[in-house]
Formats: sequence, C-alpha cells, structure tokens
Amino acid sequence: MCHYDLMDLWTLSDLCTPWCVHVVATLRIADHIDAGNTEIGQLATASGAHRDSLYRVLRHLVGKGLFQEPAPGRFALNEAARALLEPPVRLGFDLDGFGGRMAHAWGTLLSAVRSGGPAYHEAFGLGFWEDLDAHPDIAAGFDALMGPAGHGVPDPNVLVDPADWASVSTVVDVGGGTGGLLAEVLRARPQVRGTLVDLPRTVAGSGEVFQAAGVADRVTAVGQSFFDPLPPRGDLYLLKSVLSDWPDREATTILRRCAEATRPSGRVVVFNGAGPGEEASPELLMMVLVGGKGRTLDELSALAREAGLEVSSVGRQPSGRVIVEYRPT
Ligand SMILES: C[S@@+](CC[C@H](N)C(=O)[O-])C[C@H]1O[C@@H](n2cnc3c(N)ncnc32)[C@H](O)[C@@H]1O
Repeated sequence: MCHYDLMDLWTLSDLCTPWCVHVVATLRIADHIDAGNTEIGQLATASGAHRDSLYRVLRHLVGKGLFQEPAPGRFALNEAARALLEPPVRLGFDLDGFGGRMAHAWGTLLSAVRSGGPAYHEAFGLGFWEDLDAHPDIAAGFDALMGPAGHGVPDPNVLVDPADWASVSTVVDVGGGTGGLLAEVLRARPQVRGTLVDLPRTVAGSGEVFQAAGVADRVTAVGQSFFDPLPPRGDLYLLKSVLSDWPDREATTILRRCAEATRPSGRVVVFNGAGPGEEASPELLMMVLVGGKGRTLDELSALAREAGLEVSSVGRQPSGRVIVEYRPT
C-alpha cells in the first residue's frame, strides 16, 4: 500500500520553505525585528531588500509557523524565529557565506549519485577544499561552524577509560580545525602537551583559541596535510569528524599516517567516524560536499586494519558520541 498521496509528495519535496528560511537568515530579519524594526517597510530598508518581495516571503513563513504577523505588515519573533538569532544558525544558513555553499551544493546531488563522486565543482568551479583555499572568507565561516561557535564546546573526555590518561603526555589532534577540542583537552589535563595538525590557513586561526583557554604554552600548531607524515611519537592521535569527509582510500591513508606516527604504546582515537549500529549513517551532506561517507564500526575497523591498527576499545563520551580506540599492530 502506498503511504504517500500526491499532496504528501509535494509537501515532502517543497523547496520553497527551505529557501525562504535561508533568505531571511541571510538578510538577518530576526535581528532587525529584535532591534525594533517590526514593520515591513522598516524591515526592507534595514535589510536592503525589496519590500513586497520580502513581505511575500515573510507571509509564507508565518504560514509555516516561523515568525508571527500580529497586525498586517508587522512582524514579531516567535520561539521558532528566535532560533535565527543563534550564531550556529547564522553560520549554517547564510547564503552569502558557507551556508550558501551547503545550500547550493544540493543542486549537484544528481551528478553525485550518477557518478559516485562529489560534483561540488559543478556549482562552484572547484572541489570543496580547493574552493575553501580560494575563498578565505568562506573558509573562515566553515572553520567557525566546525568550531565552538557552530558545534558548541567540545567534550574533552576523549578516552573510553579515564584511568588511561595516566600514560598520556602528548596528544596530537589530526585535522583538529582551529583547536577547539585540543584546547578543552589541555585545559582538562594540565600535565598533557598538545599538537594541532590542520591545513596552514586553519591552524593560523588557532592562536587565539589556545590563548583564551590558557593553554598556549603547552601547544604546537603545525600547518600541513594529514596525508603527509605526521608529527611523531605522540601518545594519542585524535581524529574527530575527519574520516567521514573522505572515501575509503584517503581515509585509510589518514589512519596509516596516525599508525606510523604513534608510539608503539600509543593509540589513535576516532570520533564521529563510526555509527553506533549496523547501518552506516547516510551522511548525504558529506557525499555532496566532499565525497565522504558514514561507516559502521566494522567498515571503519577494516580500513584501520589495512592501515596497521586494531580496535582496542569502544565506548561513548558522556555526550553520547561513539569513541573508537585503536592500537598499532
Ligand atoms: C569536518 S572538519 C573537523 C574539524 C575538527 N576535527 C572538528 O571536529 O571540529 C575537517 C578538518 O579537516 C581539515 N582538513 C581537510 N583536508 C586536510 C588535509 N589535507 N590536511 C590536514 N587537514 C585537513 C579541515 O581543514 C578541517 O579542519
């Protein structure tokens, strides 16, 4: 029996509402209302938009439960609209910034499905990482979205058994962005030193993160590719939300670099690299942006074995995220 009738399908595939949300987020309409510009003419002036077009967009959204129109042509924030004031929403929805990359990339989904590889270049002329290299402002938005402003303060509990910290004096965060996780780890573990590895433009933004956390004297930032040999002899190599950005061959190379670099007694810890169940998360955004994929624990561990690592422990952070620890074989 068919569960959807035609109306359900149109509702399910509505592109209008998501674009309207992105447009009002980009125009900062919620901020303008919050600042007292509630009348449509004021809102259009404050946001640099065409009055009647903006009015139609806002009335559509009111019909969907986002914003209220207490009197004709006057708008107010409801709880749903207040979310548009939050920094992660701004970073993720702004069509003039990285949010525009994520939104327009969906237009390449058909090519990605036909070819099995990302088609991001069809929309932006370059592959994802090359596009970020060519557009520092977009790259800064991506780094911010990955960092505490977008994803919140990272959980520093990166080992399955906290007692194992006794044997750790150096932590290397591989593809660690601007250092948010490493800063929290070092703050929680005053005896530990850290190394941040990421692309040069990204580690360039880490100084203030480490200063603000008060750990700058215990950290080294290295701008390099994680496909090249990594800083050696660390006790712990962290890979958070990195492997899901890459197809199997590249993900195996990153794991191999960690395996080569770690001490024989050291370990490689992967977060957001394997889902908790039998089914891998579809990770469609990773598919369209970078050709990445979600993996089951078995799939991840098969790559790790090829890279010279074996699973030593599996657990969860207090926040619920799956942690997988590997040891060199
Ligand atoms: C999805 S982000 C995860 C960042 C961080 N680990 C986190 O969880 O917030 C992936 C990171 O990989 C970095 N990256 C991409 N290609 C890289 C390469 N070839 N070498 C080093 N870092 C790279 C990006 O700059 C980005 O910081």
